[in-house]
Order: sequence, then structure tokens, then C-alpha cells
Amino acid sequence: MSEYAKNKPAGFKNAIEKVAIVGAGGTIGSHLVSALLKTGKHTVTALSRKDSSNKLPDGVNVAPVDYSDESTIVEALKGQEFFIITLSPTAPRDTHSKLVQAAAKAGVPYIMPNSYAGDIEQVQFGVDTLLGPVAKAHREEIEKLGMQWIAVCCGFWYDYSLAGGEARFGFDFDKHTLTIYDDGQTKNSVSTLAQVGRAVAKVLSFPLFPQDEEDKSLTISSWLNKAVYLKSFVVNQNEIFESVKRVTGTTDADWTVTHENTKQRYEEGMALVKKGNMSGFGKLLYSRAFYPEDPSDFAAKAQNELLDLPEEKLDDATKDGIELLKELQKRPERMAA
Ligand SMILES: NC(=O)c1ccc[n+]([C@@H]2O[C@H](COP(=O)([O-])OP(=O)(O)OC[C@H]3O[C@@H](n4cnc5c(N)ncnc54)[C@H](OP(=O)(O)O)[C@@H]3O)[C@@H](O)[C@H]2O)c1
Repeated sequence: MSEYAKNKPAGFKNAIEKVAIVGAGGTIGSHLVSALLKTGKHTVTALSRKDSSNKLPDGVNVAPVDYSDESTIVEALKGQEFFIITLSPTAPRDTHSKLVQAAAKAGVPYIMPNSYAGDIEQVQFGVDTLLGPVAKAHREEIEKLGMQWIAVCCGFWYDYSLAGGEARFGFDFDKHTLTIYDDGQTKNSVSTLAQVGRAVAKVLSFPLFPQDEEDKSLTISSWLNKAVYLKSFVVNQNEIFESVKRVTGTTDADWTVTHENTKQRYEEGMALVKKGNMSGFGKLLYSRAFYPEDPSDFAAKAQNELLDLPEEKLDDATKDGIELLKELQKRPERMAA
């Protein structure tokens, strides 16, 4: 049954204004916050661990929380209209569920669950990378508790993945080495961090529901219990390498390039993860995404036009990625996994 604004009680506000977020100072969260604040339509409340050392962006309201005391999370979420969860992969496993349960108690109707990755409908890819079943369980828990979700399918973050070390797009900028998967020709659809921020802010800026049966304009409700799909580029490693050479003013002679078979690399990564060595995770994830017969390329589903997202230039994003290098190198635990 479709919901319409005309059927809501008097005083109903057909928009999302109050947005709460976990991870406001994080890799993707900081971009979501800056894009949301730029719209001028949203107030943003950052739920942040009371002992967090993460710097929160200017302009957000801060709600310190304690994950061992649910009431602090419920209190922070009361009155919030949309809840975005961006959680560090190193956060304890049950953190997402704690947040979702607190949101239900606080009466928050909509949640953007942690994932920000590949196509949630590319089931085998999700199973092979171990991420799919976890993200599915998050979405199911939200529904079971009577709330609705909007997932973000953006593919790899281009700038982050370029800077993120050999295990990701294959580049080690300190050593000037590059590992190319297979022949380097398999393409992925990928998004810059900024493009993800813009897409989420656009979706949350539409009216919540159509006015009535005649109203065919875009509304947030058309994404409820669905994913928003976006991209910045559809690229392969050879194209990324060309861009890196242009941006850094280097040539082939400056780089040591080796080739690795994606399937073998995936198996090696999985063997490490099975032994509890999470340095294998990036290896298995990125090599699997570049499998020639089933890559992480869902450009056909991207809603860039619908969301009026800008065209970006690959070399600009490459520059941003290289600038991100120093930031990421300050997070050795992250570079290692
Ligand atoms: N598409 C891609 O290429 C890609 C790449 C990486 C990650 N991802 C996805 O995006 C998600 C977010 O990644 P991110 O890099 O943005 O995260 P992040 O910056 O590492 O962390 C986000 C927030 O998690 C909170 N946090 C950290 N440790 C925690 C702990 N032990 N317990 C509770 N909260 C903790 C922190 O908030 P406070 O300090 O304010 O409490 C932090 O700001 C990942 O989980 C993953 O699903 C996608």
C-alpha cells in the first residue's frame, strides 16, 4: 500500500530534517555530513563514543554515547527522523545491532545501515566476499523491528581504494609498485567519497511521500527497503594506472608492475582470513571484485541522472586519492586489513 502525504495527520511535515549519524568524523561519514549540511535542509546529530578521539565536523550537534549503556543511545536518537550508520570495520560485531535496537526504542522510522559497498542484489559476490550475509542480516533486523532501510550501493570508494595500499587497487605509492589482477582489463563501477555524500544528501532532500496518487515526483519513499545506486567511474586497473602516471608525472619506467591471477589471489586472501589474519580480507575482496566473469560493475543500475549527480574527472579523483594517502597511513590497522 502506497503512503501519501495527504492522508497524514494535520501538521505532518513531508520531509526529513533531523538526521542522526554514527561515524560523523569517519571516512565516509564526514562526506555524508558535509553534503547534508550543504543542503541547508537538515540538522545533523553525531552519535559519538564519549571517549572518541575522532574529530567531528563543524556544524553538527554532538551526542556522546556509551555502547555499554543503551539508554545513552536511545536518548540521543529520540526525535531523530533518519539514522545513518557508518561504522568502522574494526567495531565490535554487535555494535550495529545495538544501534538498530536503540533506534527502534527511540522511534526512529528509517535507517541507512552500514555497508556502502557493492550491489546488494549480486548475491554470490556478497557471499564470496563475506560481506553480503552480514549486511542482509542488518537489513532484516531493521525490518523485523518495524523500521525501514535505504542501503547505499556505490562500489569501491575510488579515492580511498587507490590510496589504501597494495591489497586494494594494487598500488603501493611508497615503493612505486603495482599489482595488476589478471590482465588489468576487468572494469568495476566505483564512486568517490564525495559522490556518495552528494547522492545520500540528494535522496534525503526529496519529500518523504508523494502528495497523492497523481503526484509522480521523486520521493524518499521510493527508496524505502531498497538501495540507492550510484557511480563515479567504470574503470579497470590499466586505466587507473594511466591516470596515476598522468597525475604523478611518472612513466612505466618508474613503476614495477607484476600480474596476479584473481582466483589464486582470492584463495590466498581467504586462507589468511580463515587463519584469523585479517590482512587477507582486502586481498580476497578486491580480487573477487575483479573476477572477469562476475565483476563488481553495476553501472547499468546507477541512478546518477535521476539524482542529478555531476560528472567527475578521473584524474581529479586520482589526485584526491593520492592526497588521502597520508591520512590513511596514519591508520595502520586500516591499511593492514
Ligand atoms: N566501498 C568501499 O570502498 C568501502 C571502503 C571501506 C569501508 N566501507 C564500508 O563503509 C563502512 C564505514 O567505513 P569508514 O571507513 O567510513 O569507517 P571509519 O571511518 O573507520 O569509522 C566510522 C566510525 O565508527 C566509529 N567507531 C570506530 N571504532 C568503533 C568501535 N570500536 N565501536 C563503536 N564505534 C566505533 C567511530 O565513530 P566515533 O569515534 O565518533 O564513535 C568512527 O568515526 C565500513 O564498515 C564498510 O562497510 C566501504
